Amino acid sequence: MRQIGIGIAGLGTVGAGVYKHLAQNRALLTERVGAELVVRRAVVRDVNKPRVAGPPPGELTTRWQDLIDDPAVDIVVELMGGIDEPLALINAAIDAGKVVVTGNKALLAEHGREIFARAAGKKVPVFFEASTAGGIPIIKTIREALIANHIVSIHGIINGTSNYILTRMTDAGLDFSTALAEAQAQGYAEADPTLDINGWDAAHKAIILASLAYGFWVETGNIFVEGIDKLTATDIRFAGELGYRVKLLAIIKADAGPENGGGVEVRVHPTLIPKTHVLASVSGVFNAVRVCGDVVGETLFYGRGAGQDPTASAVISDLAEAAVALNGERRCYGFTPHGLYGTCRPLEGIRSRYYLRLAVDDRPGVLAQVAGILGHNEIGISSVVQPETHDEAGRAQLVLMLDRASHRQMQTALDEILRLGCVMPPAALLRVESFGAE
Ligand SMILES: NC(=O)c1ccc[n+]([C@@H]2O[C@H](COP(=O)([O-])OP(=O)(O)OC[C@H]3O[C@@H](n4cnc5c(N)ncnc54)[C@H](OP(=O)(O)O)[C@@H]3O)[C@@H](O)[C@H]2O)c1
Repeated sequence: MRQIGIGIAGLGTVGAGVYKHLAQNRALLTERVGAELVVRRAVVRDVNKPRVAGPPPGELTTRWQDLIDDPAVDIVVELMGGIDEPLALINAAIDAGKVVVTGNKALLAEHGREIFARAAGKKVPVFFEASTAGGIPIIKTIREALIANHIVSIHGIINGTSNYILTRMTDAGLDFSTALAEAQAQGYAEADPTLDINGWDAAHKAIILASLAYGFWVETGNIFVEGIDKLTATDIRFAGELGYRVKLLAIIKADAGPENGGGVEVRVHPTLIPKTHVLASVSGVFNAVRVCGDVVGETLFYGRGAGQDPTASAVISDLAEAAVALNGERRCYGFTPHGLYGTCRPLEGIRSRYYLRLAVDDRPGVLAQVAGILGHNEIGISSVVQPETHDEAGRAQLVLMLDRASHRQMQTALDEILRLGCVMPPAALLRVESFGAE
């Protein structure tokens, strides 16, 4: 049986999982792939660290260059994390003609354009199934299974940590910091959870999905990103009373279509979604991605978005594909650029419905002043709720559900509203998604 040599850079959570499952399912994989996948070397920071899974000490190194120099390594798997070292490793692997597999979403989001241009130039495939939604095979789905479709929209719950926190805030009424501490205690959040709670981990994945779906590499500066770190239990409760759940949603849309020269919108923010929608029931650390194509219609993918075993499953699926790629010329080197969709739509023009909560003086006429400002900015009000409870300062809460308006219209109106003497900043402004029913 032919052997295919693998060099793994990184034997942490994911790398150790890949090693473990390659060994555990060796016979099955060999039958399916038609070749034996053999780990020849692994790169770590500390060769003396005790490890539950990994090659013998003699095959460990601290120099990723050893993978490039070893002629027995056919596939380089980058699972180190970070940006500079992985970028140098991947570039060197492509230049050396070694097939690349990576799970590094931050790296692809920032440097995907140059990596895939280099890969196409050298005709070396780069696979990245583990970079987005962990065990859910969403990359291969968009690139291959849905190839017949113009992608109309993608909606994703693609950060398990923030989904766990929001689930606990919703179901147990916890405030944000208590829910975050619980997520850390359960091992669902890192000691430094910044990228999870500020929305950027989900944004990195949204960039990858949008780029694959629309054929141009989306720049980080062209997308709107807001995390869950400013959400309050009060807004989650009011949203619940109005029939919504709050989710950190990645929203990717090209509703104008390429024939209309329509740009693409990419955003990640806490979003009110109807409790009756299937995405509202995605709880805890689970991920889900809804993809709508013009041919297939609506599809939904659900599973674990991180963790050792689901992510190892994704990496090994790439290894199998990489093994096949080693046998023949490919047209697709991981991402195929095309010019059908142009660029990202400017944020200012992106339209959505809104939930707005204001702390206001409890006296007659306040609602009329707020409604007047919304009216002259051409923003319709679909409902108003004034709960009888007051905040600690004795102010009333005014909750408004607003019709579709652009980001620019809404910001102008909000600035004016916050200048009213009867409204106390800050306001809570959240976007509402009705999945094409607007
Ligand atoms: N964890 C997940 O659930 C998950 C899911 C999807 C994608 N990913 C992505 O997969 C990648 C790896 O994540 P992880 O959670 O497995 O990370 P991790 O547990 O921190 O492991 C990192 C590994 O890389 C090694 N390493 C780091 N920097 C190195 C350097 N400069 N030189 C040599 N070795 C180095 C470390 O060596 P030592 O062992 O000696 O410290 C360790 O083995 C990241 O890009 C992450 O975003 C992770």
